[in-house]
Amino acid sequence: MPKISKTKSAPKLAHKTHEAPHVQEDAGAKKHPRTPQLVRGMKDILPYETPWWDLLYARVADIGVSYGFERIETPVVEETALFARSIGKDTDIVEKEMYAITDTEGEKLVLRPENTASIVRAYINHGMLNLTQPVKLWYWGPMFRHERPQSGRYRQFHQFGFEVLGDESPIVDAELILIAYNVYKNLGINTSIQINSIGCGKCRGAYHQSLIAYYRTVRHEMCENCRRRLQKNPLRALDCKEPQCQPLKKDAPHFVDYLCEPCKEHFLSVLEYLDELELPYFLNHSLVRGLDYYNRTVFELYAAGEEEGSQSALGGGGRYDGLAEILGGRPTPACGFAQGCERAILKMKEIEALKPPADIVHIFVAQIGNQAKSKALKLFENLRAAGITVAHNLSKNGLRPQLEIANKLGVRYSLVIGQKEVQDETVIIRDMESGGQESIGFNKAANDLKKKLGLS
Ligand code: HAM
Repeated sequence: MPKISKTKSAPKLAHKTHEAPHVQEDAGAKKHPRTPQLVRGMKDILPYETPWWDLLYARVADIGVSYGFERIETPVVEETALFARSIGKDTDIVEKEMYAITDTEGEKLVLRPENTASIVRAYINHGMLNLTQPVKLWYWGPMFRHERPQSGRYRQFHQFGFEVLGDESPIVDAELILIAYNVYKNLGINTSIQINSIGCGKCRGAYHQSLIAYYRTVRHEMCENCRRRLQKNPLRALDCKEPQCQPLKKDAPHFVDYLCEPCKEHFLSVLEYLDELELPYFLNHSLVRGLDYYNRTVFELYAAGEEEGSQSALGGGGRYDGLAEILGGRPTPACGFAQGCERAILKMKEIEALKPPADIVHIFVAQIGNQAKSKALKLFENLRAAGITVAHNLSKNGLRPQLEIANKLGVRYSLVIGQKEVQDETVIIRDMESGGQESIGFNKAANDLKKKLGLS
């Protein structure tokens, strides 16, 4: 038996470049076709990353259960009108970021850029209004926006979100902000909450007039988009990401000064609940969010210390009491938020407060020779059925490369089957720490190993 030193390093993935291999011109030689590339703004989630995703999903699902939310999944493809009517025609998302498809029957569809509109559509389509209100739903899935890619900003990205439909009380807003905050707290990430109120249809008119009047005075300093949208949708100017529009926000009028009595009362109640919960929030008067369906409370979460000037919120949401009606349903007050999974995982990796657990492999099964190979497969199944986590590599034949893999995996025992063991109906148990070996009957191996591993 060759002596192999034990290394504890975790298996590393070989990173291959995506460059097409250089082909020498050679008459008769076959040219390699160009390898298709990852589409710009898209991201492969590689095996070394999936444990982070699993960990985030498990934590979010736990939160969902503990706050009494049920999970919902809606399709990735929706009618274009769903988002044009809900997010708003004069928003960046609808104007320039939607992935549009025309199917073979000429129907205009899109890959969903967000999920709140889909949840409201599903709520109306499935008559959820007849269920006990409020209906509390959470979701997780891919969204698509044709944005300029950068760190933490992709064209296909994932969100998890929580929505409460059928309740207008301010305590719902406060509880949702608490949940959004707690998701990150449970991941070891400190966040700060920015909050504002953008009123209702009644108070918005006066605020819009005052906003338009202010922006007219600085019109020549605004970006072209904001100038174009000013009359129709002046709130967009407060949400603009263009550098030249940033300094203009600080002198703009504040929505809270224009709130009607019911909206003011609602907002003050939300803030009182947040005070009671001792959540770290601050008023951001230019926070209006990039989607048109919001009213009253709007909020965003930033990694603590990164809120100043950051355009990368970890999550955001707000109240959207008018959306169900816009989509043809009955009036249904609602509130919710969504958080970006890629941004959450970037932060989790950076902070390392919480790491996915390392995969535990108990046993490695090594085989030498063809007959041993089929025996090894049988043994693998026996061990797996006995609740032992087993690894093998049936593509390798020599013992040495197989034991090297066992060492890298850090298993305590390896089982070896060669020609002799096949004939004797035995297997060799090798202690990977001491190098000691013993032979044991093939059918006894699973039970014996369970005892050795303390699993029985
Ligand atoms: P949103 O602010 O557009 O809101 O997106 C929520 C979160 O999704 C962002 O804070 C960010 O973390 C993530 N996100 C957005 N775009 C990208 C991107 N291109 N790449 C990576 N992550 C991104 C909504 O989508 C609303 N539906 C939230 C909501 C739910 N409002 C009420 N209920």
